[in-house]
Amino acid sequence: MKKKITVPEIMATKNSDKKVSMVACYDFMSATLVNLSKVDMILVGDSLGMNMLGMKGTVGVTVDDMVYHIKNVVKGAPDTFVVGDMPFGAYNGNIDKAIENATRIFAEGGCDCVKMEGGMNTVPYIEAVVKAGIPVMGHIGLTPQTSAMMGGFKVQGKSREAADFLVETAKAVEKAGAFLINLEGIPVGVAKRITEELKIPTMGIGAGKYCDSQDLVWPDIMGVNDWIPKFAKKYCDLRTYIVDGLNQFADDVNSGAFPTKEYSYNTVVEGYEVDDEE
Ligand code: KIV
Repeated sequence: MKKKITVPEIMATKNSDKKVSMVACYDFMSATLVNLSKVDMILVGDSLGMNMLGMKGTVGVTVDDMVYHIKNVVKGAPDTFVVGDMPFGAYNGNIDKAIENATRIFAEGGCDCVKMEGGMNTVPYIEAVVKAGIPVMGHIGLTPQTSAMMGGFKVQGKSREAADFLVETAKAVEKAGAFLINLEGIPVGVAKRITEELKIPTMGIGAGKYCDSQDLVWPDIMGVNDWIPKFAKKYCDLRTYIVDGLNQFADDVNSGAFPTKEYSYNTVVEGYEVDDEE
């Protein structure tokens, strides 16, 4: 059985041979499967807005939504480190609100740390939440919560100035006390530089091979989603597999091939005998 990785152990992977893996998943059933695998960490990401709640983005996801999903994932994955995402508006503009919402996600949700998305503006809130005793994973680069400001889900740090600013932002997030930082949707060379310049480990999603660790999203890599981003590798084709299974079930029901005796309670009750052989 796998042993849950800890915050110090994650930090110790910096400059080691161990590369931590994380998947974003959102429910008890998927969490039980991740728990059986070698994957070290689960992110209950606010991408659940799109993947579980049918939203167009992550902005409508609430702290209540997050707490509900985190609780269920934690139940399903007792041996896996669980990261709880702080959704849009959970801290913007208010330190007390940041601590209150982080505490809800961490204590009520029962996860092992929170993730706080955003650049320089997020730094004071990360500092406050860390001071409150909650481990924080940062998240910079393509930050879906502020995708409206970026004109969509666009790769960040593509100019010299933007890349330099990302490096400065990563350093500020580290200084604020984050123990791990997610780099999303940035060029390989920029992620490499950030990884070299930080003492905390980087985790990349669409940030290339030089990051200290990697994360991806369950419905993308399991082949549930129809469209997947360039950086996501499809490891299974669950969409085809599941739809085929469902079609077989529907055909069996329609033809009467299901259920046979094997799937029935066959106790003969006086006055209720059946003469059917199957
Ligand atoms: O919500 C999420 O799944 C995320 C990942 C894309 C990093 O934040």
